[in-house]
Amino acid sequence: MTKEQALKEIESLTGQIHNYNQLYYVENKSEISDYDFDQLLKRLEVLEANFPEFAFDNSPTKRVGGDLTKKFESVVHRFPMLSLSNTYSEEEIIDWENRLKKISNESLEFVCELKYDGVAIGIRYENGQLSKAVTRGDGTQGEDVTINVRTIRTIPLQLTGDFPADFEIRGEIFMPLDRFQKLNEERELNQEQLFANPRNTASGTLKMQDSKVVAERGLDSFLYGIYGNDLPIENHFDAVQNASQWGFKVPLMRERFIEKTNTIEGIMDFIHYWDQQRQHLPFEIDGVVIKVNNYQQQQQLGFTAKSPRWAIAYKFKTERVETILESVDYQVGRTGAVTPVANLKAVQLGGTTVKRASLHNSDQIEKLNLHVLDAVYVEKGGEIIPKIVGVNLDKRLATAEKIEFISHCPECHSLLIKREGEAHHFCMNELACPPQLKGKIEHFIARKVMNIDGLGAETVDLLFEKGLIRSVADLYDLNFDQLVALDRMADKSANNLLQGLKASVEIPFERVLFALGIRFVGETVAKKLAKFFKNIESIQSASYDELIQVDEIGERIAISVQQFFSDDANLMLINRLKEAGLQFSIVEKEGVTALLEGKSFVVSGVFTSFSRDEIKELIELNGGKNVSAISAKTDFVLAGDNMGPAKLKKAESLGITILSEDAFIQLLK
Ligand code: IVH
Repeated sequence: MTKEQALKEIESLTGQIHNYNQLYYVENKSEISDYDFDQLLKRLEVLEANFPEFAFDNSPTKRVGGDLTKKFESVVHRFPMLSLSNTYSEEEIIDWENRLKKISNESLEFVCELKYDGVAIGIRYENGQLSKAVTRGDGTQGEDVTINVRTIRTIPLQLTGDFPADFEIRGEIFMPLDRFQKLNEERELNQEQLFANPRNTASGTLKMQDSKVVAERGLDSFLYGIYGNDLPIENHFDAVQNASQWGFKVPLMRERFIEKTNTIEGIMDFIHYWDQQRQHLPFEIDGVVIKVNNYQQQQQLGFTAKSPRWAIAYKFKTERVETILESVDYQVGRTGAVTPVANLKAVQLGGTTVKRASLHNSDQIEKLNLHVLDAVYVEKGGEIIPKIVGVNLDKRLATAEKIEFISHCPECHSLLIKREGEAHHFCMNELACPPQLKGKIEHFIARKVMNIDGLGAETVDLLFEKGLIRSVADLYDLNFDQLVALDRMADKSANNLLQGLKASVEIPFERVLFALGIRFVGETVAKKLAKFFKNIESIQSASYDELIQVDEIGERIAISVQQFFSDDANLMLINRLKEAGLQFSIVEKEGVTALLEGKSFVVSGVFTSFSRDEIKELIELNGGKNVSAISAKTDFVLAGDNMGPAKLKKAESLGITILSEDAFIQLLK
């Protein structure tokens, strides 16, 4: 594609999408199906990524202010979603309690709760069915994220017990710490940018377009507030207890997650307890919330412009300690990226001893203007490794030397390069720099990659030190005698390892492609490339234009793929792996037919004989296409249990054939 063509198409798409948006949001008309609209938007995103110089400042692909994006319908809250007034000071909590006592003239009962650090959500249930889930947005209107909220297992789709016919429940959606850490580990493996903290990740996840990805991310929730007209409930605590009966995950599940008290001492005890204990929770909280329990009293106390008078949040100060920055180490990863790590004088932080802190890259060192032996402030966020957030300049020594980022690789001494627009310095000595060579082998053997049984990082180290392996192809030349000669390698372990390597010839092409460690080719991209090109030769000979044809492949990946294949060393490596018997083309699955050729399907709900992914795979294997949203162009809706009533209604109104699981199986027969 020439630059002129790109500019023309970007102009045309931008105009079209703006028009459709105007029609949709202002005039409430929809002249295009959601699916087709998404396709236009995706095409524009691809073009803008490849020709950023032509993207308009107000392109419809960019977010427009506030919390509202074009992707989700905006919904006006039936009851405004207010925020809480908050404080970091215990005195202000005492003042607040005194004030309320004076205004109300009655004895007050308080409910103390955790302040979950996630994203606020309001979920409406009609006749016991989840009907709509909306984000807080600006408090008056939010975004309809129902499709994504439905994937959260702790949020019931259908209620049990004696629930009101129409009400809204509010609470917080968050990402548990173990899921957050797992997600970042995966991203590291895929050479993707790491997420900063669980809260932003939860918020970003909730607004993703692909609800399948949302489901995999493992979001969780706590729900704590009931809203509706004429509800037969008198106080907040009872509301939470009722919600628990209806099937919601409420904070009653563990001791002291929610607590009633009549006194300021009780409130303070709750605050002190959780300030100490929060480090042991499997999710993040940023404070506690104190609410007047009785609804009538709540009503009497009323609201200020932004928040209720009957509730207040006490926020914990992020624990921050001061310690001495003793030195900076530099670690080289498998891609050659160099990461600085601070060595600190050991200090206690959040119940653990901290000796190291992440510094991310040279910009970070520059921004903090770090000097050797500086007194630095260290904080612990959602990350596993704590971070340096500032310097106590009063304590800087007059003689202190500024920390200069290294110019040469600490491992192989070759010159480091920092490319424009990239955050990291790189060691370019890919073919000889030990941590890069070892890192590539470790990536190759990892469980989520080639999953070589009997081989771990320690053995790789050993084999490397002995000079037995330099690349992944060398693994396949190892023999029993070489292995048993190693320290701590018994006959059984050696056999295991050889067996593990032998078994790896069965691993499908897409995983082998991922295992090669091509920069920016993570698990998903490898799958897309394998599916599109079918074998390694076609990828190797693909032109830039052909590469960017593939869904999700942009300039950055295309260039990296071409660079990889232009290197003779990589071609030799592939040849050796081919000789070892590894898969370099996709094997077409059996049972393929063209029965569903050209037909588009929307799959919704839960199925008995298959998982949703298996059903989708079956559709594709038989020539059909999966689409995410129902439009006039959809041929079939495959309806499992619990399919949303709105979807069903839409399908019916468009006259689309609705298939049950059994009918679908019959169709394939
Ligand atoms: S009550 C009208 N309770 O904090 C008061 N909020 O700053 C409604 N939050 O938007 C909120 N834990 O996202 C309440 N136990 C809790 C909470 C909580 C977290 C969040 C919520 C809200 C924000 C208010």
